[in-house]
Amino acid sequence: MNFDEEIDRVGTHSAKWDKMEGIYGVSPEDGLAMWVADMDFRPPEVVQAAVQRMADHGVYGYFGNEGPYLDAIEWWMRERHGWDVPRDGVFTTHGLVNGTGLCLDAFTEPGDGVVLFTPVYHAFARVIRAAGRTVVECPLVQDEAGTYRMDFDAYDAAMTGSERMVILCSPHNPGGRVWSAEELRAVADFAVRHDLVLVSDEIHHDLVMPGESHTPMPLAAPDIADRLVMLTATTKTFNIAGAHIGNVTIADPELRCRFAARMGAMGMSPNSFGMHMATAAYSPEGAAWVDELTGYLDGNRRLFDEAVNTIPGVRSMPMQATYLAWVDFSGTGMEPREFTRRVEKDAKIAVNHGDTFGTGGGAFLRFNVATPRARVAEAGARLQRAFGDLQ
Ligand SMILES: Cc1ncc(COP(=O)(O)O)c(C=O)c1O
Repeated sequence: MNFDEEIDRVGTHSAKWDKMEGIYGVSPEDGLAMWVADMDFRPPEVVQAAVQRMADHGVYGYFGNEGPYLDAIEWWMRERHGWDVPRDGVFTTHGLVNGTGLCLDAFTEPGDGVVLFTPVYHAFARVIRAAGRTVVECPLVQDEAGTYRMDFDAYDAAMTGSERMVILCSPHNPGGRVWSAEELRAVADFAVRHDLVLVSDEIHHDLVMPGESHTPMPLAAPDIADRLVMLTATTKTFNIAGAHIGNVTIADPELRCRFAARMGAMGMSPNSFGMHMATAAYSPEGAAWVDELTGYLDGNRRLFDEAVNTIPGVRSMPMQATYLAWVDFSGTGMEPREFTRRVEKDAKIAVNHGDTFGTGGGAFLRFNVATPRARVAEAGARLQRAFGDLQ
């Protein structure tokens, strides 16, 4: 796989490249798209071949026979994560934001509190509010090394009794944390103490940097299966987010029934393109590609961090997983409006604004480094120039 190939995505209806001018005023002609969390790479050949087979056949009817898809999921989760998936508890949704919305609908009532460890993936708060539920922010704290930690004494004290659910992002977007088994155990205990359904969004679980090891929640806390909902997907891992497919996996029969009822009420059935792509992806060929990919992403994050960390007052949080660099500008003493202006107008880089991730995000910008290395190098050089007066 040649991850160095620069593929022009402009004019392909790509959210990342075709919407950045309208949103950030950064032109795709001379700008760099480092916001939306998709990659500028093609998926593995095994996925391309599955799409090609569909096109060659040319009849695009409703999907049937989920057997091979479930086999592929079982194989992948056992092989790559040591997790025995409860096959009967796998529900296929139109992506995981959709899956989160269905969980809110199935397991909470309007007005209920839903706990988030902020800053965290912005769509969680968006769907919670849109569903008429209340976001309950439990801010992460940074230790001396700048790494995010959880502070359960503070979180316990903040609970009011109206909370019904907690959504965990594991590994963490945007902080890039791979939570340890002990930290996951503490989240599970927190869910038990406050009688919360725990939704563990593990969409980034394959994108773990060499030397790091992700623990699936069912392995960290096998005893909380009666309140656990797992969210996983092929889409981040294989860069097929446009296929809009994800899995909500529920071991508990009662929770499963409630979820199935909501899916039925929404008239949901699988997206055929997504099913074929995902089945092909969860394979030995897909696994070899992911191993190559994470090696490449590791090189990109190192290059990016080396460049931005030379700028006085700017620090990129050590990225243990994902391809999203979470960069703290607080040491520059600049207001968010000023450092954001420099990044967007001077460096011409479209990035995610930290305040959209909730409390604690305001001094940060999120940079997506899943792009050919030459662009990452260019981004680093542009940022050094844009903040050159600080040197
Ligand atoms: C934690 C997390 N969950 C879900 C999603 C999106 O999932 P989907 O595209 O399947 O809706 C993202 C995308 O960045 C994410 O970071």
